[in-house]
Amino acid sequence: MKVQVCIIGGGPSGLLLSQLLHLKGIATVVLEKHTREHVLSRIRAGVLEHGFAALMREAQCGERMDREGEIHHGFFIAHGGGRMDRVDLHRYSGGNSVMVYGQTELTRDLYDGREKSGAPTVFEAADVALHDLTSDRPFVTCRRNGEALRVDCDYVVGADGFHGVSRKSIPAGVLREYERVYPFGWLGVLSRTKPVSPELIYASHERGFALCSLRSQVLSRYYIQVPLSDRVEDWTDAAFWEELRRRLPAEVAARLVTGASIEKSIAPLRSYVAEPMRHGRLFLAGDAAHIVPPTGARGLNSAASDIYYLYHAMLAHYQHGDDAGLDLYSQKALARVWKAQRFSWWMTTTLHRFPANSPYEDKLQATELAYLFSSERALGALAENYVGLPF
Ligand code: FAD
Ligand code: PHB
Repeated sequence: MKVQVCIIGGGPSGLLLSQLLHLKGIATVVLEKHTREHVLSRIRAGVLEHGFAALMREAQCGERMDREGEIHHGFFIAHGGGRMDRVDLHRYSGGNSVMVYGQTELTRDLYDGREKSGAPTVFEAADVALHDLTSDRPFVTCRRNGEALRVDCDYVVGADGFHGVSRKSIPAGVLREYERVYPFGWLGVLSRTKPVSPELIYASHERGFALCSLRSQVLSRYYIQVPLSDRVEDWTDAAFWEELRRRLPAEVAARLVTGASIEKSIAPLRSYVAEPMRHGRLFLAGDAAHIVPPTGARGLNSAASDIYYLYHAMLAHYQHGDDAGLDLYSQKALARVWKAQRFSWWMTTTLHRFPANSPYEDKLQATELAYLFSSERALGALAENYVGLPF
């Protein structure tokens, strides 16, 4: 098979880029390790910044998102043993907001758009390997149903998530890696229950962080901070609801509607950046190059800016023979990636309980929130980062 751009990974990053390029007549293929059903069974992001939503519309896949997604103009932070303060995103970001729409639904819309437009996807692509990345004729090989497949292309995009092969194809010595692993994870539950609040609640509590989120008015998503040693099998639904209640202000806990979990999982919290994001004709995008702890809802949104820069760089290359965007891709993408890293680190350290903190550090943490809600400028800094910095 011969295409212009071979995209590895059929998650949101790979699908969005391939759909945008396809609409401009640039030939792509997506090689995805798993089945479509498997990809769509993963429950992950819920909050999209307006830049991501705009790219979904540009990819002609935003119709259902605009119909079913919820625009949120603010969220709450519960802290100080029972206080609930609202962050008015709209006011403090100069009129912006975020879209609450599940990653699962957005991925489904991208797959549907792809099928409609006839763009090729290879599911269950096994043993994907990247070759000759520093030549001008790179190629990718894999196996499907036991048969060998070779894809010749101009460029390879590694959008295969944190555990993919693309980043690992860059020789040691070229890549610099920056990492922080947090000493806790998030236990998440999805339930077919009415959300406890129409807007998200981030709760900082002495027993640990908790988050009340949602996918729709009948589907709730809740998380609690747990030690890394906890196993999901050890958490019954009843124990989860009990612990969540204890971390919420009393009046919120009193109206929490509980029910059977339809998904329950533990996600470790980690920050990671690989530099550079380009090696020869390979470009990394999304979680393949960087991940953040989910506290600031930045992961998928960081992928969006990568896709935006890469899409425009490839358009300039194919339409005008202009390679400046491709040459600057890594530098431009990383500048924004690091701002998302900084914000996610700030949200995580401000809102979680750190077992090794001294009483002094606990006092500083409480003061961070007290300061936030006493300063319009501090709220402005939070709001502009949460709705997404400009691309
Ligand atoms: P992925 O979604 O990981 O997709 C990569 C794809 O590549 C997968 O389909 C995988 O099967 C495939 N693949 C892997 N290896 C190979 C291979 N060798 N060959 C071929 N294919 C391969 N972000 C936000 O912006 N907002 C949020 O509210 C938010 N909440 C989150 C909550 C949780 C609990 C978690 C865990 C994450 C959250 N995120 C959030 C982060 C977000 O989910 C990720 O940043 C996003 O999934 C990245 O998309 P991606 O396409 O780059 O990678
Ligand atoms: C989610 O709904 O899954 C979600 C929302 C906000 C976050 C993280 C996760 O910060």
